[in-house]
Amino acid sequence: MKLEDFKSLKEIHEYFALHNSCKLKKYATQPVYELTPPKSGIIFIGEAPGVNEDKQGKPFVGAAGKLLDEMLRSIGYTREDVYVTNVVKYRPPENREPLPDEKESCRVWVNAELLFIKPKIIVALGRHALERFLPQEHISIIHGQVFIHSSGVPVFAMYHPAAALYNPNLKKTLQEDFYKLKDFLDGKIQPLENENSNQKEKQVLIDEILKL
Ligand code: URA
Repeated sequence: MKLEDFKSLKEIHEYFALHNSCKLKKYATQPVYELTPPKSGIIFIGEAPGVNEDKQGKPFVGAAGKLLDEMLRSIGYTREDVYVTNVVKYRPPENREPLPDEKESCRVWVNAELLFIKPKIIVALGRHALERFLPQEHISIIHGQVFIHSSGVPVFAMYHPAAALYNPNLKKTLQEDFYKLKDFLDGKIQPLENENSNQKEKQVLIDEILKL
């Protein structure tokens, strides 16, 4: 299977829903994904679906999603303008964090989404999303900053909205980071180079898909 064989996100999701070895599948109701590429070219990547997402099959439809929507509105965007995905496509039991092998087994699926959409910017929400692009960095240090990833795509680091839900200080930080994201989108902030960027990511992406 090659990336060019996929004509839509729907085809990508249907293919990978059948061809993945993620162990979370057996606990989940269904995989969670979106079908419409973003006109704005902005992709947000979260961690894993929760209970509401698992029921509806759509990402960020629960409390964290409502906060994400609120933040988007504060910078003049709506959910329809962006694309939202997760590091793993299935809800982990009891909402625990996804394990390394679970993230790994959904990796090619996410890579296919990214390559298909060709985003203008990737916003990594929380440490699980950040680690895949900038594995040596810590969210508490680089949140609010944007780096050019080795694939050429800018990656903006943000706290996960779920972390900000019950912590007013983090909510304030998240809001400030959204304003910085807006500044970047408006061309007022330039991305930084990052020597810890995941160097092989782009080639790995392509090789992984070709192997399928
Ligand atoms: N948290 C996430 O990381 N993703 C979702 O889809 C919902 C909550």
